[in-house]
Amino acid sequence: MILLGPPGSGKGTQGERLTEDFQLPYYATGDILRAAVREGTELGVEAREYMDRGDLVPDEVIVGVIAERIDDHEAEDGFILDGFPRTIPQAEALDAKMQELGRELTASVLIDVDDGEVVRRLGGRRTCVKNGHVFHVEFDPPKNEGVCDVDGSRLEIREDDKPEVIRHRLEQYREKTEPLISYYEGVGILKRVDGARPPDEVSDRIRALLATLRMEEEL
Ligand code: AP5
Repeated sequence: MILLGPPGSGKGTQGERLTEDFQLPYYATGDILRAAVREGTELGVEAREYMDRGDLVPDEVIVGVIAERIDDHEAEDGFILDGFPRTIPQAEALDAKMQELGRELTASVLIDVDDGEVVRRLGGRRTCVKNGHVFHVEFDPPKNEGVCDVDGSRLEIREDDKPEVIRHRLEQYREKTEPLISYYEGVGILKRVDGARPPDEVSDRIRALLATLRMEEEL
């Protein structure tokens, strides 16, 4: 299953919940790349300048990272993708990989929010420096200001959550990622969810969608 949507739509928030519900591996390309930046690997060094500017990293860099993971036996029973694919060539590469493995995508869930909500959410997001746990100063505040509830580490503003970079990320989304909506509509697996609702309502809606798909599969 794929989680699709603009920056800050809540893909990570929902991905975490779905992973618990379904006990499936969760591959979030943003998290994978930020971990690589923290560890100073070759991938991290290459990705960092693109990410800080709000640009997408080149397709050939990210496609290999995901192909390797879904080829792994831990992904045999299914997996959740967040932030991948983000361009048509990435979607085509994913299709080719799935075909090679004799498998099919179940759903591409679009978590839809407008630009004003994106700016509000990303402007108030605080992220834990150690493990990437996410909070929001207004919608999901930590118990102690500036401190992660989960592991006690410091909370920071992501480099790409600065106002001018948020605008650029939104432009990149419209230009390069939004065409995936028609792409998955064409394949017949696009499911839309109103991401402006509170997190619990969004989760309930996604769970209901997936339950319906499972029932249809069993019929
Ligand atoms: P990535 O980390 O994937 O960034 P993104 O898609 O812009 O998504 P975000 O992580 O910003 O937001 P989210 O939708 O997960 O929202 P969240 O749940 O945190 O990618 C970063 C960069 O990596 C890219 O710019 C690019 O450079 C590179 N990259 C990654 N994948 C790539 C690819 N495939 N190809 C090329 N480059 C790639 O929620 C946001 C905030 O809102 C939080 O504070 C949260 O608490 C709050 N919130 C969440 N849901 C709700 C709700 N329902 N109501 C109120 N508040 C909410």
